[in-house]
Amino acid sequence: MIPLVDLKKQYHTIKKPVQKAINAVLERGDFILGSDLTLFENEFAGFCQAQYAVGTDSGTGALELALHAAGIKQNDEVIVPVFTFYATASAVASTGATPVFCDSDPNTANIDPQKIETLITPKTKAIMPVHLFGQPCDIEPILAIAKKHKLLLIEDSAQAHGALLHFKNGKTMKTGSIGDMACFSFYPGKNLGAYGDGGMILTNNKEFADRARLLRDYGRTGKYEHSLLGFNRRLDTLQAAILRVKLKKLSSWNKKRVANGKLYDKLLKELGIFTFTILPFAETVRHVYALRIKNRDRLAEYLKEKGVATGVHYPIPLHLQKAFAYLNYQSGDFPVAESISQEILSLPIFPELTSAQIKSIVKHIKEFVAKNG
Ligand SMILES: Cc1ncc(COP(=O)(O)O)c(C=O)c1O
Repeated sequence: MIPLVDLKKQYHTIKKPVQKAINAVLERGDFILGSDLTLFENEFAGFCQAQYAVGTDSGTGALELALHAAGIKQNDEVIVPVFTFYATASAVASTGATPVFCDSDPNTANIDPQKIETLITPKTKAIMPVHLFGQPCDIEPILAIAKKHKLLLIEDSAQAHGALLHFKNGKTMKTGSIGDMACFSFYPGKNLGAYGDGGMILTNNKEFADRARLLRDYGRTGKYEHSLLGFNRRLDTLQAAILRVKLKKLSSWNKKRVANGKLYDKLLKELGIFTFTILPFAETVRHVYALRIKNRDRLAEYLKEKGVATGVHYPIPLHLQKAFAYLNYQSGDFPVAESISQEILSLPIFPELTSAQIKSIVKHIKEFVAKNG
């Protein structure tokens, strides 16, 4: 069986340094806000070319804290893509603000910048685009809109550790260093994944960083002194120690994902199958490799029979999720996201996947297409 993600295989390549790092934390006993956390925050901020980093308990925690730190509150509106993971929008709702959904670009599945401006109202405070599947979204027009309307830009970079954007002025920036704040997830299956939950806020704004740091630790200024209504949303030292080991491998893992993605693109295009466009100014890190096909569910079933696991990111766009029914959107409101969600299928893309495995997966897809038209 070829799994969608193979965490065990990866663990065996880094077993010794991971166990050493875990043991060092166990020996020191600095489990909460320990030395590996500060070191990892500095190293990850350096990797992404951002100034400040605040480790959090999860990507969801990072998003929620970032929004709270930015002062987003009840009656505010935050524009988010409708085609993303639930947490992008639930984090907005957690502040009491309203998530306002925006449709997708059919070629990339990322937020369509052309559709953002019409959604802006006097209540809009921020835009929170997602770098979906590891591909940076088309951020330059979004930055321009944010600037024009004086809105905050918070990147949901949960799926894009190390992705790059080449700007028209010749500058190159990593995702996570572009907006007013950015949020990452270290969920185990992410390109940089912990052995449990984890997340991070990055920012170049000291005020936001200081407030997020306070908020993740009960808003406290002394052991039993609390200046803000904070939370308990810290990244564990143990996870930070593991992530420090894995960060050293991230660039080489990303390169393998990119090479795997290129091979899929080439082979699937030869079959006439729709593959998502990588923007010419964007360097993806291929967190998810997705294709589009009409009879998606039957292909998934066929691949399963052949021993290939697949996934669907995501089968229900957020406006059709029961949890967001209170926002009163209707089926048909976001036609691009709705049609993507019916046809999208994710194939294995993890770094340890071999070219031979990719070729065999595509061979099965070819057989399926030949049989099913
Ligand atoms: C786009 C996006 N945002 C937010 C999250 C939430 O991260 P976590 O699962 O670490 O809470 C995820 C992760 O699954 C994600 O993919």
